[in-house]
Amino acid sequence: MRIGVAREIKPDEYRVALTPAGARELVHRGHDVTVEAGAGLGSAFPDRAYEAVGARIAPVEEVWGEAELLLKVKEPIRPEYGYLRAGLVLFTYLHIAADEPLTRALIGSGIAAVAYETVETDNRALPLLAPMSEVAGRLAAQAGAYFLEKPLGGRGLLLGGVAGVAPGKVVVIGGGIVGYNAAVIALGLGAQVTILERSIDRMRHLEEVLSGRVSLLMSSALQIEESVAEADVVIGAVLIPGALAPKLVTLESIRGMKEGAVLCDVAIDQGGCAETSRPTTHSEPVYQVEGVTHYCVANMPGAVPITSTMALTNATLPYVEAIADHGLAEAAARDEALARGVNVIDGRITYEAVAEAHGLGYSPLEDVLPLSPV
Ligand SMILES: NC(=O)c1ccc[n+]([C@@H]2O[C@H](COP(=O)([O-])OP(=O)(O)OC[C@H]3O[C@@H](n4cnc5c(N)ncnc54)[C@H](O)[C@@H]3O)[C@@H](O)[C@H]2O)c1
Repeated sequence: MRIGVAREIKPDEYRVALTPAGARELVHRGHDVTVEAGAGLGSAFPDRAYEAVGARIAPVEEVWGEAELLLKVKEPIRPEYGYLRAGLVLFTYLHIAADEPLTRALIGSGIAAVAYETVETDNRALPLLAPMSEVAGRLAAQAGAYFLEKPLGGRGLLLGGVAGVAPGKVVVIGGGIVGYNAAVIALGLGAQVTILERSIDRMRHLEEVLSGRVSLLMSSALQIEESVAEADVVIGAVLIPGALAPKLVTLESIRGMKEGAVLCDVAIDQGGCAETSRPTTHSEPVYQVEGVTHYCVANMPGAVPITSTMALTNATLPYVEAIADHGLAEAAARDEALARGVNVIDGRITYEAVAEAHGLGYSPLEDVLPLSPV
């Protein structure tokens, strides 16, 4: 298959959809890989690293124009709509339930659009979102420690303490992938860590994998209020799938926090779990409310593109290989997780939540693609 890798043109996006290691795997399987000039630079992969493994470097029109499978990281933005066409399979983060112009552009073009974020296994895991949650969780603990420093507006506290001085307290709300990874790094820094969770099964799991090194508490309004008041760093990591994040930390609770404490609201991409949270950017990551530093960067993995690119492509490559080896119809027939990723194909919406979000018609995938493995 002819596989194209486009350069990301969204501001502040430095990831790339395929590493040279991934390109080599695909070339070895007999596929033809073309990478847009400069696509890997933001993740420290120069063009020559792709050429060295047998990929070709080409200008943007050639990459999109000749590909049968086009790999990207972020959704196409307006200047890229012109490249969408029938006969092309696009594999990328799409998030089109919140993007009507792109949904209509995809439908109008006849392209097959497969979204990383809706690839979903039978046990409801999201394998192509998980790596970014791992990165964001780990970064959140680092950001918390960093913004506690006095010159940055923080309390002036070293999270890990020293011999004879108590460590700082980190409270993580939501013990999923972000929460677990935040806890691991906070523990590594020497902090005293508490995770507030709603699922008892999840708490049992965390108890086991973290060997009892964190306090696990049932999440309730009262418990959140009390824990947040004692915290030096609060990390917001809740998720209710398909819904906005619940506002678990009230303005009143923020007022009750210590002067110079830090709130890292990782759930900001779902609206944030504190009443005082609003999205920030890497160039201006923090603001203060009632003396509490708010870190609410909506695309945290963008700060560490080398790690994020490798983590993302480790997860996407098996699906890329399946589509390249078998074609989309056959690959989707063999793997329901991948089939759930197909959002739009042949001008029809095959992902129900997207159709509902825009009041447009929904066609089950099996009505559009013949889903029977040969
Ligand atoms: N800002 C960023 O750059 C960035 C990057 C990746 C993920 N995220 C966001 O981080 C959030 C967490 O993602 P995840 O992958 O860890 O999700 P996840 O589903 O793995 O974990 C969410 C956890 O929250 C728990 N939860 C739900 N309601 C709760 C409540 N009231 N109190 C306590 N816990 C509760 C769930 O039981 C679950 O364990 C999501 O909003 C996700 O979109 C943001």
